[in-house]
Amino acid sequence: MRAADVSTDLTEVLVTEEQIQAKLGEIAARVDADYAGKDLLLVGVLKGAVMVMADFSRALQVTAPMDWMAVSSYGAGTKSSGVVQIRKDLDTDIMGKHVLIVEDIIDSGLTLSWLVENFTARGAASVEVFALLRKPEAAKVEVHCKYVGFDIPTEFVVGYGLDYAERYRNLRDVAVLAPHVYS
Ligand code: XMP
Ligand code: MG
Repeated sequence: MRAADVSTDLTEVLVTEEQIQAKLGEIAARVDADYAGKDLLLVGVLKGAVMVMADFSRALQVTAPMDWMAVSSYGAGTKSSGVVQIRKDLDTDIMGKHVLIVEDIIDSGLTLSWLVENFTARGAASVEVFALLRKPEAAKVEVHCKYVGFDIPTEFVVGYGLDYAERYRNLRDVAVLAPHVYS
């Protein structure tokens, strides 16, 4: 598929690159203040959070270490299965650390609520969540998300790390995927 096809694959840009960068700056300032003097560990959820982590971590003043976790609750489709599977575990021991989970999107909330419970059980001093995007109407379980970038409608979105079948992650904006692409 050629790059030009993107124009017919997307129906609407929901969040622009400029809006994302401005929001990351605001949230980074809050996180810098909230975690002053604390042992902060950023944990990115692969692969969707790669772009968020890259830009967010560089917007921070603190030199917080980073770790990554890969879980999957999705197949190749667009609906959450609710079954969370660890594909890559953390490399570090999070006992006593103040963990901030960096996520691309909260949809049903199933993935994050599972992660928060899992990290808490490993003895983290605290576990908080930063999600760039949230679909409030899709929530199946309540997840306390301390830092939220943008609330968006319940539509399947791609770009800025978010994929459909591994494509569109490299788009700079977040856009709605046209239903004809997946239906
Ligand atoms: P849950 O439903 O567990 O899902 O909150 C969170 C994970 O599902 C993926 N997800 C999406 N990926 N566009 C995507 O490209 C979307 O609109 C979307 N909604 C959920 C994502 O990987 C997230 O971490
Ligand atoms: Mg995905």
